[in-house]
Amino acid sequence: MDLFEYQARDLFEKHGVPVLAGEVIETPEAAREIATRFGGRAVVKAQVKVGGRGKAGGVKLASDPEDAVAKSAAILGMDIKGHTVHKVMLAATADIKDEYYVSFLLDRTNRTFLAMASVEGGVEIEVVAEENPDALAKIPVDANEGCTPEKAREIVAAAKFPAEVADQVADVLVSLWKVFIAEDALLVEVNPLIKSGDGKIIALDGKVSLDENAEFRQPGHEALEDKAAANPLEAAAKAKGLNYVKLDGEVGIIGNGAGLVMSTLDVVAYAGEAHGNVKPANFLDIGGGASAEVMANGLEIILGDPDVKSVFVNVFGGITACDAVANGIVQALELLKAKGDEVTKPLVVRLDGNNAELGRKILTDANHPLVEQVDTMDGAAERAAELANAK
Ligand SMILES: Nc1ncnc2c1ncn2[C@@H]1O[C@H](COP(=O)(O)OP(=O)(O)OP(=O)(O)O)[C@@H](O)[C@H]1O
Ligand SMILES: [Mg+2]
Repeated sequence: MDLFEYQARDLFEKHGVPVLAGEVIETPEAAREIATRFGGRAVVKAQVKVGGRGKAGGVKLASDPEDAVAKSAAILGMDIKGHTVHKVMLAATADIKDEYYVSFLLDRTNRTFLAMASVEGGVEIEVVAEENPDALAKIPVDANEGCTPEKAREIVAAAKFPAEVADQVADVLVSLWKVFIAEDALLVEVNPLIKSGDGKIIALDGKVSLDENAEFRQPGHEALEDKAAANPLEAAAKAKGLNYVKLDGEVGIIGNGAGLVMSTLDVVAYAGEAHGNVKPANFLDIGGGASAEVMANGLEIILGDPDVKSVFVNVFGGITACDAVANGIVQALELLKAKGDEVTKPLVVRLDGNNAELGRKILTDANHPLVEQVDTMDGAAERAAELANAK
């Protein structure tokens, strides 16, 4: 989960990374009082989860409180690379003498954590990495040892920070590492980390990405979710513990196992080419133990999507045998009917693998008017696409 800059700023402050005062607002009028408290001047910064805000006109210096209101009004509602600005942060202004870059991230390829640092900050770091790779120091950080003061000095030396800021930058790195570990982050990035006119090192812009797999031990992180931006179907699926991703097609997909679901998306997209270009409407993996309840939850989410015109249930019986899944489907349809959400969209079911025969018989015997069975994955994809296009 990526955070907004103001949320990153708050986490930095919590763990001792030096930041400037910053407050987030949603209406321009609110800027006046804050800018006044900041001494009149303030930087108005668009809060969107996309890079390059400054270049897009989303970071502006306001010279007095009225100007802060005007600049906030101009930035709120702005579109930055497809993201609408709903919030701006007013930040105290810094007197910038130098701009640096520091980050910690998970380096999956090398199975370690990585520190990156450069004295050429402020600009997009990808550009530095591309055009002047020597200017970006990359130092692995051992997960068990972490960023000790010694490690921090090693990073500072590798990036060739000037002597007069070396100690301060090393301290910032140790604090930033605390953010990384204590908050279970996958990325903490400061760009720019600045040297101010009076020689202080301050984090002026922060990017933090949190590891959603650590949610169970981070009760505070739920409050950081951007509920307004979450797709309502995805939010409902998440509440039910389902692995669901909304896509923009018409064929609802349910499968067991992420790999099978991925290939189901492919065959449906391919089959759809011959049927009005219909596409998969979602990814939904109900996992190994597909109980009736899980199946009902999955069907409920998918059928609740107004874009869905047909549903393809693609199951390969393994540990959970096909008869159990078939019973799950039958019970799920009954459960939904009992709840008043009777299924009105056609379901194409393909069962294969362990106890497939038995599973097919259960569905045949149930004789649900909207359930059709097709034995092969390609055939079922074809039929589901055809039904979606016919609607
Ligand atoms: N509080 C501040 N005071 C003075 N100047 C600032 C302040 N915040 C940002 N700036 C200036 O604006 C530039 C861009 O700001 P910032 O890094 O926050 O946005 P960005 O880099 O455009 O956004 P992103 O990191 O999302 O791409 C900074 O490099 C800095 O020069
Ligand atoms: Mg930046």
